[in-house]
Amino acid sequence: MERFAGKKVLLTGAATGIGRATALRLAGEGARVFAVDLNPEIPSHPDITPHVADVADEEQVKTAVAQAAKELGGIDTLINVAGIHKTTPLATLSLADFRRLLDVNLLGTFLFCREAMPYLVESKGVVVNTASTSATHAHPYMTGYAASKGGVLAFSLSLAAEVAPRGVRVVTVSPGGVVTPLMSSVTFPEDVDASFYGRIMPQVGFGEPEAIAGTIAYAASADGAYLTGVELRVDGGSHV
Ligand SMILES: NC(=O)c1ccc[n+]([C@@H]2O[C@H](COP(=O)([O-])OP(=O)(O)OC[C@H]3O[C@@H](n4cnc5c(N)ncnc54)[C@H](O)[C@@H]3O)[C@@H](O)[C@H]2O)c1
Repeated sequence: MERFAGKKVLLTGAATGIGRATALRLAGEGARVFAVDLNPEIPSHPDITPHVADVADEEQVKTAVAQAAKELGGIDTLINVAGIHKTTPLATLSLADFRRLLDVNLLGTFLFCREAMPYLVESKGVVVNTASTSATHAHPYMTGYAASKGGVLAFSLSLAAEVAPRGVRVVTVSPGGVVTPLMSSVTFPEDVDASFYGRIMPQVGFGEPEAIAGTIAYAASADGAYLTGVELRVDGGSHV
């Protein structure tokens, strides 16, 4: 498939997991991808330009968006995937950790949307933001993460309505359990009751990053042309 031939994609979180799989998927479908991550190990590919930046830093985001537009000759697709996670009971969730979850997951998404929007209006482009099933379903010991992802979903729905008259689509993709470094880093403290999670296991096994990349590619492509202001939950039936 060459659905992204000639497309100019700005993508965050490209070094590992879902973002990495998405960068490779879109480049494989013909896109030129400006790939941002804090981790410099962004995949090497002739159509992927790596750029190291912290999505939570306003000046670094401004620089990344300006460089992406210069390198690509505009931006028609913005995909926010960068994110962090924290699992802990409320009592031990520090203010610094809560703030960092909001800064990276929510404010990072906001900053990229705000800075890239003039280019997306120009191109009548598309935004795909990454939330989580935590945005709409109870996940104990993940309150800070859930708050940040609920914010991403709410932000994206309102943004979709705001920019639809200017021809820009905004879609939220909410993955369930996907086998990535982020999921491997989830550890519960010894004394927590993890039985809740036994009731929300995926019915078809944990997902691979490529499955989420495929959904993001669908949402961002012309195949998703009638999608906006919608959340696509991709969770293997864990939250039916
Ligand atoms: N894996 C899952 O089960 C799952 C479930 C629901 C939602 N998600 C969401 O999917 C997205 C991707 O997660 P993943 O599982 O692929 O995790 P991951 O850890 O493999 O990838 C996250 C990427 O974001 C980058 N990143 C983190 N902080 C950054 C920052 N401040 N600036 C720039 N880059 C930064 C990391 O370096 C990494 O490359 C995240 O937003 C995550 O919350 C994942």
